[in-house]
Amino acid sequence: MRAMTEETFSPIRWTDKGLELLDQTRLPREETWLHCRQPEDVAEAIYRLSVRGAPAIGVATAYGLVVGLQSMAEGSDLHRRFTEVSELLGATRPTAVNLRWALEGGRKIFDDNVDAGGDAVIAALLEWAKRVHAADIQSCRQIGAFGAELFSADDRVLTHCNTGALATGGYGTALGVITASHEQGKVSQVWVDETRPLLQGARLTSWELERLGIPYKLVTDSSVGTLMSRGLVDRVVLGADRIAANGDTANKIGTYTVAVVANRHNVPFYVAAPLSTIDQRTPTGSDIPIEERDEEELRRVFEATISPENAPAANFAFDVTPNELIAAIITDVGVLEPPFTESIAEAFRKIEAG
Ligand code: MRU
Repeated sequence: MRAMTEETFSPIRWTDKGLELLDQTRLPREETWLHCRQPEDVAEAIYRLSVRGAPAIGVATAYGLVVGLQSMAEGSDLHRRFTEVSELLGATRPTAVNLRWALEGGRKIFDDNVDAGGDAVIAALLEWAKRVHAADIQSCRQIGAFGAELFSADDRVLTHCNTGALATGGYGTALGVITASHEQGKVSQVWVDETRPLLQGARLTSWELERLGIPYKLVTDSSVGTLMSRGLVDRVVLGADRIAANGDTANKIGTYTVAVVANRHNVPFYVAAPLSTIDQRTPTGSDIPIEERDEEELRRVFEATISPENAPAANFAFDVTPNELIAAIITDVGVLEPPFTESIAEAFRKIEAG
């Protein structure tokens, strides 16, 4: 795997051949890279979770727009093609707001450069996508540094889903906080929720923690009550797919359960995410669209069927944690504290003021 820096890597790379994505559906058994020649390949990779995690979806989408224009048939209409590709990518995953963020950013670059012709607009979009990619890694490092300030020596930390280099441009959000804290002697052990149904914790977070040399133990999602009632968790840190303007947070299904139990046991519950995951246009958690995925994902684990063949199932990919259960939101511009409506608005005001 190509190293982006000494201690991180990226699941997304742009090479002479174009866009390549590490196929996360095959991890940890195989490290296979997908070559995306058409925008349909990128859309399929996002939908199938070959590339996943809100920030990584944003970065893949940015490159996906480039792939879309590069692969268009000669003589096609640039405007129509850009709209079609945006719609194709935009229809893949409704909850991760970084997807919309990337499409809107790409639209602006397109509009500013389209008059110069196809080659110029492709070059401008590619340069922008590379900037989005590099900026995401930088944001993650800032999140890691800010988050580590909240940790104390030898904390035992619980996390859910995967928020590491695999879920971002590189380095990770909540896993970036864990990495930075571990480097400072502030993490002695990570509890890794397996994260049913697609096992992002068991397959991906464990794989990343092994590479990082951070001690961890894998647990079933339903162990959270036992762990906390036995006093075995000092902090929770996990990611977000979309944070509403009031701080309500959509994240991988099971996050809300962790938050309720953490609250019951006075364990600080932190959300780590870049500002690009905060959606000021979504007022509260009940306005966040929640993705529901194929029932088959619940009936099968890898090749094995684990229920009656056609067992009816409901596969909610995400849930919403109300802001009152969140102790702090760790962002790339600092740690935001309750009341979040004010601290979020203030963070954006500062960015806009430069
Ligand atoms: O369905 P996934 O694997 O894309 O869900 C990912 C998560 O829920 C992550 O916690 C979130 O996107 C943040 S990743 C830094």
